[in-house]
Amino acid sequence: MLTLGIETSCDETSVALVEGRNVLANVVSSQIAHTKFGGVVPEIAARNHVRVLVPLTRLALEIASRKLEDVDLVAATRGPGLVGALLSGLSFAKSLCLGLEKPFIGVNHLEGHVYSLYIAAGFLKTPHLVLLVSGGHTELVLIEKKFRYRTVGRTRDDACGEAFDKVAKLIGMPYPGGPYIERAARQGRSGAVRFPVPRLKDFDFSYAGLKTAVMYYLRDNPDFDAGDVARNFQEAALAQLVNVTRRAAGHFRVKHIGLVGGVAASQALRDKLAGLAAELNVRLHIPPMQYSTDNAAMIALAGQERFLKFGPSDLDCDATSRESLEKISPQF
Ligand code: KG4
Ligand code: ZN
Repeated sequence: MLTLGIETSCDETSVALVEGRNVLANVVSSQIAHTKFGGVVPEIAARNHVRVLVPLTRLALEIASRKLEDVDLVAATRGPGLVGALLSGLSFAKSLCLGLEKPFIGVNHLEGHVYSLYIAAGFLKTPHLVLLVSGGHTELVLIEKKFRYRTVGRTRDDACGEAFDKVAKLIGMPYPGGPYIERAARQGRSGAVRFPVPRLKDFDFSYAGLKTAVMYYLRDNPDFDAGDVARNFQEAALAQLVNVTRRAAGHFRVKHIGLVGGVAASQALRDKLAGLAAELNVRLHIPPMQYSTDNAAMIALAGQERFLKFGPSDLDCDATSRESLEKISPQF
């Protein structure tokens, strides 16, 4: 089955062609227009998706050496995300389905991230945990069995990547700030500045306090050392991810942990989670970077699996800014 995937939930436009678990093409256009605003501007994102969807689809077909008529299913992200951005991809996907007389399926973006793990690793033995950390999400998901999800932890305020972006902005670094913080942190001294690592009940996360602590530190120390601030902020931010994952892995007795989302680009986080996996004697899975950040291959694979089990979506399928994984988990 050849599935065309479309992802437009934020500032990445992506089109993929997937056959089974084989990714034939996965093209991504990252919008740089937002850089000067220090964050994503929703209307600019939507307009850029509309501009590049057709050429990207042509490119994906060319890379995969397939024709549009070969497509058996079109899968597009329906949420959570920026509604205007989502609508551009959804409308394009539905129009293709009407023209081609092929089925359409709307995909939950978070389920897509979970499936990014299975592109390379295959479907993992359940139960397993997925730590999803990006600019928009910080969630710990327990996959009880295929299609049945339990979000056991989530951020109560800012997402982890968002905190990296905000702190980078405070220090005067460009957007998105994660990679700049990581680079600066290599020159910083651990322990030179003390930032709090919150410990919440259950398996939830919080980043607002840490961001505020950095803000006050910078205000009170105008001659701050950017490397020291970056290093100790990063340590506090990542320690929270590792601590919560450690407790959840023990509590739910999982043998496999996945790390997905843009923050998986952090080598410091990869190293810390690899250490945790060794300590707990569990296996850590991290997809190749092109499937960790927003991409359409994960959407195509999730859509294809869901279609094979539950059939297509209606063509009146709407975009949504919020949709939990519980909402799409059927009761077996
Ligand atoms: O999944 P993603 O590409 O996009 C969305 O959030 O939609 O994630 C981007 C996020 C940004 O917040 C960025 O700062 C963060 O991932 N990020 C990092 C690193 N590389 C990217 N955060 C920490 N360390 C990094 N090396
Ligand atoms: Zn995402």
